Amino acid sequence: MSILITNIKQLLQVHDSNVTIVKGEAMKTLPVLENAYLYVEHDTIIEFGEMKDCEGIEAETVIDATGKIVLPSWCDSHTHIVYAGDRTSEFVDRINGLTYTEIANKGGGILNSAKLLQETAEEDLYEQSMNRLDELIKMGTGAFEIKTGYGLTVEAELKMLRVIKRIKQESLAKITPTLLAAHAIPKAYRDKKQDYIEYITKDLIPKAVALNIAHYIDVFCEEGYFDIKDTEAILKAGKQYKLKPKTHVNQFNVLGGVALSVKYDALSVDHLEELNEADIEALKGSNTIPVALPGCSYFLSIPYTPARKLIDAGLPLAIATDYNPGSAPSGNMNFVVSAACVKLKMTPEEAINAATINGAYAMGISNMYGSITRGKKANLIITKPLNHYSQIPYAFAHNPVEQVIINGQLKDI
Ligand code: NIG
Ligand code: FE
Repeated sequence: MSILITNIKQLLQVHDSNVTIVKGEAMKTLPVLENAYLYVEHDTIIEFGEMKDCEGIEAETVIDATGKIVLPSWCDSHTHIVYAGDRTSEFVDRINGLTYTEIANKGGGILNSAKLLQETAEEDLYEQSMNRLDELIKMGTGAFEIKTGYGLTVEAELKMLRVIKRIKQESLAKITPTLLAAHAIPKAYRDKKQDYIEYITKDLIPKAVALNIAHYIDVFCEEGYFDIKDTEAILKAGKQYKLKPKTHVNQFNVLGGVALSVKYDALSVDHLEELNEADIEALKGSNTIPVALPGCSYFLSIPYTPARKLIDAGLPLAIATDYNPGSAPSGNMNFVVSAACVKLKMTPEEAINAATINGAYAMGISNMYGSITRGKKANLIITKPLNHYSQIPYAFAHNPVEQVIINGQLKDI
């Protein structure tokens, strides 16, 4: 199986050497090859270059990309795509004036989704989730991190992990699973949070690890959920099983979760709608990448992550959807790239870097995904005819994607 794409107007994110992250000032640069070709064999990017050097290359499938842009597929490093049903009624409650926190305090929110998921058959959950994934592949996402966290019992969390494993086996997309047992305190543990933390650390984590599906651990470190002490207990337990942290921190309040996550060598710290100088200092010199989730800020009408502060401090930044039924019911990375420009004041180059190579870094896969580099996996977007790549974020809420190649296979849209 081979594919040759010719006459590409702009081929984005081209690197001769294998970059795995871009930081600070370097995020302003997006390497572009004009009038280019790209050659793929099986699931791998084999060669690319200027059209004048394309002569003699033959392939089973030839795609003429005149007027179109080709770029690596989006890498969505933060999703909760495995969930049951929806939370439309809470959406209406919020329109009528309730806040996300008030809805959660009434027993809605994550607990509402957990109840629904516990009652949903594994097969049904798999089908709902696969349908969401298929829709997003067509919108240009080629890699998804997927979290558990709507189970909140051993049984239901393991059900989620098995669904994620099946998606990983069946889908052409790259999937990285994360164990988010500490997403909320279940009703049964409302007045005995310590017991739930013990349940997670002594019972749930060992049983989840035995399935050998998730290699990352997440905690919702937030007032009313898990405080710093709780978060540390869970990260510590995870560390014993070599689970690397990817944490929810600073969504509504700064509790010190950033420094704690860095201390436990987190791969990423996500949300950061609230951020202080100490957080920025903690991230400097670490291997932890901050991740902004503009879809969540948009949907909940909360502050946007101060991306400029992070990037201007020389740090890397990734952007992701946070796709979930409560705070961000959209997995559209094209919108996220646009919102990053409009609301986070990132340039198109910074936003595309944040959604490709840095997104891949935030999933621990940037050695094989996130850039057009020989030997990397062929996960590609071919856009509709566009004048310039800046039109991707400029034409917000439009779908710029015409075709995708995922794991080397051309997928009809
Ligand atoms: O990332 N913040 C915690 N978790 C999700 C929301 C989950 C939900 O409301 O169902 C988030 O925003
Ligand atoms: Fe989230």
